[in-house]
Amino acid sequence: GKIVLAFSGGLDTSICVPLLKEEYGYDEVITVAVDVGQPEEDIKKATDKGHLIADKHFTIDIKDKFVEEQLFPTIKANGSYEGYPMGTALARPLIAEEIVKIAKKEGANAVAHGCTGKGNDQLRFDFIFRGAGLDIVAPMREMNLTREWEMDYAEKHKIPVPVVKDKPYSVDENCWSRSIEGGRLEDPSFHPPNDIYEWTVSPEEAPDTPEEITIEFEKGIPVALNGKRMKGYDLILAVNKVAGKHGIGRNDMIEDRILGLKAREVYEHPAATVLIAAHSDLERLVLSRQELSFKNIVDEKWSELGYMGLIHEPLFAALTAFINKTQERVNGKVDMKLYKGKATVTGRSSPDALYSGDLVSFESKTIDQKDSIGFSSFFGFQARIWKNLKK
Ligand code: ARG
Ligand code: SIN
Repeated sequence: GKIVLAFSGGLDTSICVPLLKEEYGYDEVITVAVDVGQPEEDIKKATDKGHLIADKHFTIDIKDKFVEEQLFPTIKANGSYEGYPMGTALARPLIAEEIVKIAKKEGANAVAHGCTGKGNDQLRFDFIFRGAGLDIVAPMREMNLTREWEMDYAEKHKIPVPVVKDKPYSVDENCWSRSIEGGRLEDPSFHPPNDIYEWTVSPEEAPDTPEEITIEFEKGIPVALNGKRMKGYDLILAVNKVAGKHGIGRNDMIEDRILGLKAREVYEHPAATVLIAAHSDLERLVLSRQELSFKNIVDEKWSELGYMGLIHEPLFAALTAFINKTQERVNGKVDMKLYKGKATVTGRSSPDALYSGDLVSFESKTIDQKDSIGFSSFFGFQARIWKNLKK
Protein backbone atom coordinates (compact mmCIF):
# COMPACT_ATOMS: atom_id res chain seq x y z
CA GLY A 1 0.00 0.00 0.00
CA LYS A 2 0.75 3.71 -0.04
CA ILE A 3 1.78 5.82 2.91
CA VAL A 4 2.34 9.56 3.21
CA LEU A 5 5.17 10.67 5.51
CA ALA A 6 5.57 14.07 7.14
CA PHE A 7 9.14 14.78 6.08
CA SER A 8 11.68 17.29 7.33
CA GLY A 9 14.84 15.78 5.92
CA GLY A 10 16.21 15.30 9.43
CA LEU A 11 17.46 12.05 10.93
CA ASP A 12 14.15 10.62 12.15
CA THR A 13 12.04 11.24 9.09
CA SER A 14 14.85 10.25 6.70
CA ILE A 15 15.24 6.77 8.11
CA CYS A 16 11.45 6.41 8.15
CA VAL A 17 11.53 5.99 4.38
CA PRO A 18 13.42 2.64 4.33
CA LEU A 19 11.81 1.60 7.64
CA LEU A 20 8.29 1.96 6.23
CA LYS A 21 9.24 -0.40 3.44
CA GLU A 22 11.47 -2.91 5.25
CA GLU A 23 9.69 -3.10 8.58
CA TYR A 24 6.12 -2.17 7.67
CA GLY A 25 5.85 -3.53 4.14
CA TYR A 26 4.59 -0.40 2.38
CA ASP A 27 5.58 -0.36 -1.27
CA GLU A 28 5.06 3.32 -1.95
CA VAL A 29 6.35 6.03 0.39
CA ILE A 30 5.32 9.59 -0.41
CA THR A 31 7.22 12.29 1.45
CA VAL A 32 5.81 15.74 2.14
CA ALA A 33 7.87 18.68 3.37
CA VAL A 34 5.81 21.60 4.60
CA ASP A 35 7.38 25.04 4.52
CA VAL A 36 6.47 27.01 7.64
CA GLY A 37 9.42 29.33 7.32
CA GLN A 38 12.36 27.05 8.01
CA PRO A 39 15.61 28.33 6.48
CA GLU A 40 15.35 28.15 2.70
CA GLU A 41 18.33 25.79 2.44
CA ASP A 42 16.60 23.33 4.81
CA ILE A 43 13.53 23.26 2.60
CA LYS A 44 15.72 22.82 -0.44
CA LYS A 45 17.63 19.96 1.22
CA ALA A 46 14.39 18.26 2.29
CA THR A 47 13.03 18.63 -1.23
CA ASP A 48 16.14 17.19 -2.89
CA LYS A 49 16.35 14.39 -0.37
CA GLY A 50 12.67 13.53 -0.66
CA HIS A 51 13.02 13.24 -4.44
CA LEU A 52 16.12 11.11 -3.96
CA ILE A 53 14.93 8.58 -1.37
CA ALA A 54 11.12 8.48 -1.64
CA ASP A 55 8.86 7.24 -4.44
CA LYS A 56 7.20 10.62 -4.71
CA HIS A 57 7.80 13.92 -2.99
CA PHE A 58 5.85 17.14 -2.41
CA THR A 59 7.01 20.41 -0.90
CA ILE A 60 4.13 22.64 0.17
CA ASP A 61 4.56 26.29 1.05
CA ILE A 62 2.13 27.40 3.76
CA LYS A 63 4.21 30.26 5.18
CA ASP A 64 1.51 32.91 4.77
CA LYS A 65 -1.23 30.60 5.98
CA PHE A 66 0.88 29.76 9.05
CA VAL A 67 1.35 33.45 9.80
CA GLU A 68 -2.30 34.34 9.31
CA GLU A 69 -3.92 31.32 10.94
CA GLN A 70 -1.52 30.64 13.79
CA LEU A 71 0.99 33.43 14.36
CA PHE A 72 -1.36 36.41 14.21
CA PRO A 73 -3.67 34.65 16.68
CA THR A 74 -0.76 33.84 19.00
CA ILE A 75 0.32 37.48 18.97
CA LYS A 76 -3.23 38.54 19.84
CA ALA A 77 -3.23 36.00 22.67
CA ASN A 78 0.29 36.94 23.84
CA GLY A 79 0.76 33.20 23.39
CA SER A 80 3.24 31.61 25.72
CA TYR A 81 3.64 28.30 27.50
CA GLU A 82 5.48 28.19 30.82
CA GLY A 83 6.96 31.54 29.96
CA TYR A 84 8.23 31.06 26.40
CA PRO A 85 6.50 31.91 23.11
CA MET A 86 5.50 28.55 21.67
CA GLY A 87 6.33 27.85 18.03
CA THR A 88 6.56 24.15 17.19
CA ALA A 89 3.16 23.64 18.77
CA LEU A 90 1.57 26.15 16.41
CA ALA A 91 3.06 24.69 13.25
CA ARG A 92 2.32 21.00 13.84
CA PRO A 93 -1.46 21.03 13.28
CA LEU A 94 -1.13 22.90 9.98
CA ILE A 95 1.65 20.58 8.81
CA ALA A 96 -0.56 17.63 9.70
CA GLU A 97 -3.47 19.09 7.73
CA GLU A 98 -1.31 19.35 4.60
CA ILE A 99 -0.28 15.70 5.02
CA VAL A 100 -3.97 14.76 5.23
CA LYS A 101 -4.71 16.66 2.00
CA ILE A 102 -1.95 14.82 0.13
CA ALA A 103 -3.08 11.47 1.55
CA LYS A 104 -6.61 12.13 0.26
CA LYS A 105 -5.30 13.28 -3.11
CA GLU A 106 -3.00 10.28 -3.51
CA GLY A 107 -5.55 7.79 -2.26
CA ALA A 108 -3.47 6.68 0.73
CA ASN A 109 -5.20 5.69 3.94
CA ALA A 110 -2.07 5.64 6.07
CA VAL A 111 0.18 8.46 7.21
CA ALA A 112 3.45 8.46 9.11
CA HIS A 113 5.46 10.80 11.28
CA GLY A 114 8.89 10.60 12.85
CA CYS A 115 7.99 11.69 16.38
CA THR A 116 9.14 9.81 19.43
CA GLY A 117 6.76 8.43 22.02
CA LYS A 118 8.19 10.81 24.58
CA GLY A 119 7.26 14.16 23.23
CA ASN A 120 4.43 16.51 22.35
CA ASP A 121 4.63 16.41 18.58
CA GLN A 122 3.21 12.88 18.30
CA LEU A 123 0.04 14.08 20.06
CA ARG A 124 -0.33 17.16 17.87
CA PHE A 125 0.06 15.15 14.66
CA ASP A 126 -2.09 12.23 15.80
CA PHE A 127 -4.94 14.53 16.81
CA ILE A 128 -5.31 15.79 13.23
CA PHE A 129 -4.59 12.42 11.59
CA ARG A 130 -7.11 10.56 13.76
CA GLY A 131 -9.67 13.27 13.11
CA ALA A 132 -9.28 12.54 9.38
CA GLY A 133 -9.76 8.81 9.95
CA LEU A 134 -6.28 7.81 8.77
CA ASP A 135 -4.07 4.96 10.02
CA ILE A 136 -1.03 6.29 11.82
CA VAL A 137 2.43 4.77 11.67
CA ALA A 138 5.13 6.20 13.91
CA PRO A 139 8.25 4.04 13.61
CA MET A 140 10.29 5.90 16.24
CA ARG A 141 7.81 5.26 19.02
CA GLU A 142 6.55 1.87 17.83
CA MET A 143 10.06 0.42 17.48
CA ASN A 144 11.35 2.26 20.55
CA LEU A 145 14.27 3.63 18.57
CA THR A 146 17.14 5.61 19.98
CA ARG A 147 18.97 8.26 18.00
CA GLU A 148 22.16 6.20 18.33
CA TRP A 149 20.52 3.24 16.56
CA GLU A 150 19.00 5.56 13.96
CA MET A 151 22.38 6.95 12.99
CA ASP A 152 23.80 3.48 12.41
CA TYR A 153 20.73 2.52 10.38
CA ALA A 154 21.08 5.68 8.27
CA GLU A 155 24.73 4.88 7.64
CA LYS A 156 23.88 1.34 6.51
CA HIS A 157 21.21 2.66 4.14
CA LYS A 158 23.53 5.39 2.83
CA ILE A 159 21.10 8.07 3.90
CA PRO A 160 22.86 11.36 4.44
CA VAL A 161 21.93 12.87 7.81
CA PRO A 162 22.67 16.37 9.04
CA VAL A 163 23.74 15.41 12.56
CA VAL A 164 27.10 13.95 13.51
CA LYS A 165 27.63 11.60 16.40
CA ASP A 166 29.11 14.03 18.90
CA LYS A 167 26.34 16.62 18.50
CA PRO A 168 23.02 14.91 17.91
CA TYR A 169 20.65 17.75 18.75
CA SER A 170 17.05 17.62 17.67
CA VAL A 171 16.17 20.94 16.09
CA ASP A 172 12.76 22.17 15.03
CA GLU A 173 12.37 25.43 13.18
CA ASN A 174 9.71 27.66 11.77
CA CYS A 175 9.73 31.42 11.23
CA TRP A 176 8.46 32.04 14.80
CA SER A 177 10.89 29.92 16.77
CA ARG A 178 13.82 27.57 16.72
CA SER A 179 14.02 24.83 19.32
CA ILE A 180 17.09 22.79 20.18
CA GLU A 181 16.93 19.74 22.42
CA GLY A 182 18.52 16.33 22.94
CA GLY A 183 22.17 15.38 22.85
CA ARG A 184 24.28 16.91 25.56
CA LEU A 185 21.47 19.33 26.40
CA GLU A 186 19.67 16.43 28.08
CA ASP A 187 21.84 17.09 31.11
CA PRO A 188 20.02 20.09 32.61
CA SER A 189 23.23 21.25 34.30
CA PHE A 190 25.14 21.32 31.00
CA HIS A 191 25.68 24.88 29.75
CA PRO A 192 24.45 25.33 26.17
CA PRO A 193 27.43 26.05 23.91
CA ASN A 194 27.10 29.22 21.86
CA ASP A 195 27.27 27.32 18.57
CA ILE A 196 23.80 25.79 19.02
CA TYR A 197 22.27 29.20 18.29
CA GLU A 198 21.69 30.36 14.74
CA TRP A 199 19.27 33.26 14.97
CA THR A 200 20.76 35.16 17.88
CA VAL A 201 24.15 36.33 19.06
CA SER A 202 24.94 36.23 22.77
CA PRO A 203 24.15 39.47 24.59
CA GLU A 204 27.91 39.90 25.18
CA GLU A 205 28.58 39.88 21.43
CA ALA A 206 25.68 42.21 20.65
CA PRO A 207 26.40 45.76 19.46
CA ASP A 208 27.33 48.33 22.11
CA THR A 209 24.85 50.84 20.71
CA PRO A 210 21.13 50.27 21.17
CA GLU A 211 18.74 50.28 18.23
CA GLU A 212 15.25 51.77 18.25
CA ILE A 213 12.44 50.20 16.27
CA THR A 214 8.75 51.06 15.90
CA ILE A 215 6.05 48.48 15.42
CA GLU A 216 2.57 49.43 14.31
CA PHE A 217 -0.46 47.30 15.11
CA GLU A 218 -3.93 47.14 13.60
CA LYS A 219 -6.53 45.05 15.40
CA GLY A 220 -3.78 43.32 17.36
CA ILE A 221 -1.75 42.41 14.29
CA PRO A 222 1.67 43.91 13.47
CA VAL A 223 1.39 45.68 10.10
CA ALA A 224 4.42 47.96 9.85
CA LEU A 225 8.03 48.11 10.99
CA ASN A 226 9.67 51.53 11.26
CA GLY A 227 6.83 53.09 9.29
CA LYS A 228 7.10 50.61 6.44
CA ARG A 229 4.03 48.46 5.83
CA MET A 230 4.93 44.82 5.36
CA LYS A 231 3.09 41.55 5.10
CA GLY A 232 3.23 39.41 8.21
CA TYR A 233 5.84 36.93 7.10
CA ASP A 234 8.29 39.60 5.93
CA LEU A 235 7.78 41.63 9.08
CA ILE A 236 8.48 38.62 11.30
CA LEU A 237 11.65 37.86 9.35
CA ALA A 238 12.82 41.46 9.58
CA VAL A 239 12.21 41.59 13.34
CA ASN A 240 13.95 38.24 13.80
CA LYS A 241 16.97 39.69 12.08
CA VAL A 242 17.24 42.97 13.96
CA ALA A 243 16.37 41.50 17.37
CA GLY A 244 18.62 38.48 16.84
CA LYS A 245 21.49 40.83 16.09
CA HIS A 246 20.94 42.35 19.54
CA GLY A 247 20.89 38.98 21.28
CA ILE A 248 17.18 39.03 22.07
CA GLY A 249 14.96 35.98 22.55
CA ARG A 250 17.07 33.16 23.92
CA ASN A 251 15.51 30.77 26.38
CA ASP A 252 16.97 27.80 28.25
CA MET A 253 14.38 26.11 30.41
CA ILE A 254 12.90 23.05 32.01
CA GLU A 255 9.56 22.43 30.35
CA ASP A 256 6.66 20.23 31.38
CA ARG A 257 5.53 18.23 28.40
CA ILE A 258 1.92 17.13 27.93
CA LEU A 259 2.79 13.60 29.03
CA GLY A 260 4.19 14.97 32.26
CA LEU A 261 7.85 14.45 31.46
CA LYS A 262 10.13 17.34 32.29
CA ALA A 263 12.48 18.20 29.45
CA ARG A 264 15.39 20.59 29.02
CA GLU A 265 14.64 22.80 26.04
CA VAL A 266 16.57 25.62 24.46
CA TYR A 267 14.86 28.15 22.20
CA GLU A 268 15.52 31.24 20.19
CA HIS A 269 12.61 33.39 19.10
CA PRO A 270 13.68 37.03 18.67
CA ALA A 271 10.65 38.33 16.75
CA ALA A 272 8.22 36.51 19.02
CA THR A 273 9.81 38.10 22.08
CA VAL A 274 9.72 41.61 20.62
CA LEU A 275 6.29 41.44 19.00
CA ILE A 276 4.54 39.94 22.02
CA ALA A 277 6.20 42.46 24.36
CA ALA A 278 5.08 45.32 22.09
CA HIS A 279 1.59 43.89 21.68
CA SER A 280 0.93 43.33 25.36
CA ASP A 281 2.22 46.81 26.16
CA LEU A 282 -0.20 48.32 23.64
CA GLU A 283 -3.04 46.30 25.16
CA ARG A 284 -2.30 47.98 28.49
CA LEU A 285 -2.95 51.33 26.86
CA VAL A 286 -6.22 50.46 25.13
CA LEU A 287 -7.97 47.73 27.11
CA SER A 288 -9.85 48.35 30.32
CA ARG A 289 -8.63 47.05 33.66
CA GLN A 290 -11.44 44.49 33.59
CA GLU A 291 -10.61 43.33 30.09
CA LEU A 292 -6.92 43.02 30.91
CA SER A 293 -7.35 40.89 33.99
CA PHE A 294 -9.89 38.61 32.33
CA LYS A 295 -7.86 38.39 29.12
CA ASN A 296 -4.85 37.21 31.12
CA ILE A 297 -6.81 34.12 32.06
CA VAL A 298 -8.10 33.65 28.51
CA ASP A 299 -4.59 34.04 27.04
CA GLU A 300 -3.24 31.44 29.45
CA LYS A 301 -5.96 28.94 28.56
CA TRP A 302 -5.68 29.67 24.83
CA SER A 303 -1.94 29.00 25.07
CA GLU A 304 -2.44 25.75 26.95
CA LEU A 305 -4.76 24.46 24.20
CA GLY A 306 -2.40 25.82 21.54
CA TYR A 307 0.50 23.99 23.18
CA MET A 308 -1.44 20.75 22.97
CA GLY A 309 -2.26 21.41 19.32
CA LEU A 310 -6.00 21.17 20.05
CA ILE A 311 -6.97 23.71 17.41
CA HIS A 312 -10.33 21.99 16.88
CA GLU A 313 -11.30 22.08 20.57
CA PRO A 314 -14.54 24.09 20.81
CA LEU A 315 -13.16 26.05 23.76
CA PHE A 316 -10.27 27.16 21.55
CA ALA A 317 -12.73 28.63 19.06
CA ALA A 318 -14.67 30.35 21.84
CA LEU A 319 -11.55 31.85 23.41
CA THR A 320 -10.34 32.99 19.99
CA ALA A 321 -13.66 34.78 19.44
CA PHE A 322 -13.29 36.59 22.77
CA ILE A 323 -9.71 37.55 21.97
CA ASN A 324 -10.66 38.85 18.51
CA LYS A 325 -13.37 41.02 20.03
CA THR A 326 -10.84 42.68 22.35
CA GLN A 327 -8.37 43.17 19.51
CA GLU A 328 -10.68 45.49 17.56
CA ARG A 329 -9.21 48.34 19.60
CA VAL A 330 -5.59 47.19 19.69
CA ASN A 331 -4.38 49.79 17.21
CA GLY A 332 -1.32 51.97 17.55
CA LYS A 333 2.45 52.24 17.64
CA VAL A 334 5.04 50.93 20.04
CA ASP A 335 8.67 52.07 20.14
CA MET A 336 11.19 49.58 21.41
CA LYS A 337 14.84 49.75 22.28
CA LEU A 338 16.89 46.67 21.47
CA TYR A 339 20.04 46.36 23.47
CA LYS A 340 22.23 43.48 24.61
CA GLY A 341 19.62 40.77 24.94
CA LYS A 342 16.77 43.00 26.06
CA ALA A 343 13.82 44.56 24.26
CA THR A 344 12.39 47.47 26.21
CA VAL A 345 9.30 49.47 25.35
CA THR A 346 10.24 53.16 25.28
CA GLY A 347 6.95 54.69 24.14
CA ARG A 348 3.48 53.87 22.85
CA SER A 349 0.52 55.69 21.27
CA SER A 350 -2.96 54.78 20.07
CA PRO A 351 -6.13 56.40 18.73
CA ASP A 352 -7.99 53.96 21.01
CA ALA A 353 -6.11 54.74 24.22
CA LEU A 354 -8.16 54.71 27.42
CA TYR A 355 -5.50 56.97 28.81
CA SER A 356 -6.33 60.59 29.51
CA GLY A 357 -3.30 62.78 29.99
CA ASP A 358 -5.58 65.60 31.03
CA LEU A 359 -7.21 63.61 33.83
CA VAL A 360 -4.10 61.94 35.21
CA SER A 361 -1.66 64.84 34.93
CA PHE A 362 -0.37 66.27 38.19
CA GLU A 363 -0.48 69.65 36.49
CA SER A 364 -4.15 69.63 35.48
CA LYS A 365 -7.21 70.75 37.45
CA THR A 366 -9.83 68.98 35.31
CA ILE A 367 -10.51 66.67 38.21
CA ASP A 368 -11.33 68.32 41.48
CA GLN A 369 -9.03 66.40 43.79
CA LYS A 370 -11.34 67.02 46.73
CA ASP A 371 -13.87 64.64 45.06
CA SER A 372 -11.69 61.68 46.00
CA ILE A 373 -12.00 62.38 49.73
CA GLY A 374 -15.47 60.78 49.79
CA PHE A 375 -14.24 57.74 47.85
CA SER A 376 -11.28 57.42 50.18
CA SER A 377 -13.48 57.47 53.27
CA PHE A 378 -15.17 54.24 52.17
CA PHE A 379 -12.03 52.68 50.79
CA GLY A 380 -10.80 49.65 52.78
CA PHE A 381 -13.75 50.06 55.14
CA GLN A 382 -14.19 46.36 56.03
CA ALA A 383 -10.48 45.76 56.35
CA ARG A 384 -10.17 48.64 58.80
CA ILE A 385 -12.91 47.19 60.99
CA TRP A 386 -11.30 43.73 60.92
CA LYS A 387 -7.90 45.17 61.80
CA ASN A 388 -9.36 46.96 64.80
CA LEU A 389 -11.32 43.88 65.97
CA LYS A 390 -8.06 41.92 66.18
CA LYS A 391 -6.61 44.36 68.74
N1 ARG B 1 9.15 21.39 23.40
C1 ARG B 1 8.74 22.14 22.28
C2 ARG B 1 7.30 21.90 22.01
O1 ARG B 1 6.75 20.96 22.48
C3 ARG B 1 9.63 21.89 21.09
C4 ARG B 1 9.46 20.57 20.41
C5 ARG B 1 10.48 20.44 19.34
N2 ARG B 1 10.22 19.36 18.45
C6 ARG B 1 11.16 18.68 17.82
N3 ARG B 1 10.77 17.70 17.05
N4 ARG B 1 12.43 18.94 17.96
O2 ARG B 1 6.68 22.65 21.33
C1 SIN C 1 9.79 14.28 19.48
O1 SIN C 1 9.41 13.55 20.38
O2 SIN C 1 9.76 13.90 18.29
C2 SIN C 1 10.33 15.65 19.75
C3 SIN C 1 9.98 16.21 21.07
C4 SIN C 1 8.56 16.64 21.23
O3 SIN C 1 7.71 16.30 20.43
O4 SIN C 1 8.25 17.31 22.23
